[in-house]
Amino acid sequence: MKFATAIVATTVAAVASAQALWTFPPEGPCVANCTDSVGKTFFPFYNDVDSTGPFFFTSLSYTFERGTPTTIEFMSAAGTCMQTCPMPEQNAYRASYPLKLKWYQDNKPAALARRRL
Ligand SMILES: *[C@@H]1O[C@H](CO)[C@@H](O)[C@H](O)[C@H]1NC(C)=O
Repeated sequence: MKFATAIVATTVAAVASAQALWTFPPEGPCVANCTDSVGKTFFPFYNDVDSTGPFFFTSLSYTFERGTPTTIEFMSAAGTCMQTCPMPEQNAYRASYPLKLKWYQDNKPAALARRRL
C-alpha cells in the first residue's frame, strides 16, 4: 500500500512539474534572424524556435540569464543586429521580453538553473 501511494505521489509531482507551453508568437523574421544567427555564433545547435527541441532552454539562456557574461555578449550582438529591423518588430521584441523572461524563469529545468553559463 505504501509503495502504491509513493508511485501516485511521484506521478503527480512529475505532472505538476511538466513545463507550461510556450505560446509566444514570433515577433517577425528580422529579429528572429538576429537571435538565430547570433545564437549560432555562440552555440551551433542554437534553436529558440522549436520549443520542444532538446536545445530550447539552452538557447533561451543566452537571452534570459541576465547579468552573465554570455548573455551580456549575446544581447549586445543581437541588439546591434536588431537596430536594422523594422520598428514594429523591435517593439514587439521589447514588449514580449519581460513575459518570456518570466516564462523562462518559471519553466527552465533545475539542471540549467544550477549551471553557470
Ligand atoms: C541576419 O542577421 C545577420 C547578423 O547576425 C545579418 O548579417 C544578416 O544580414 C541577416 N539576414 C537577414 C535576411 O536579415
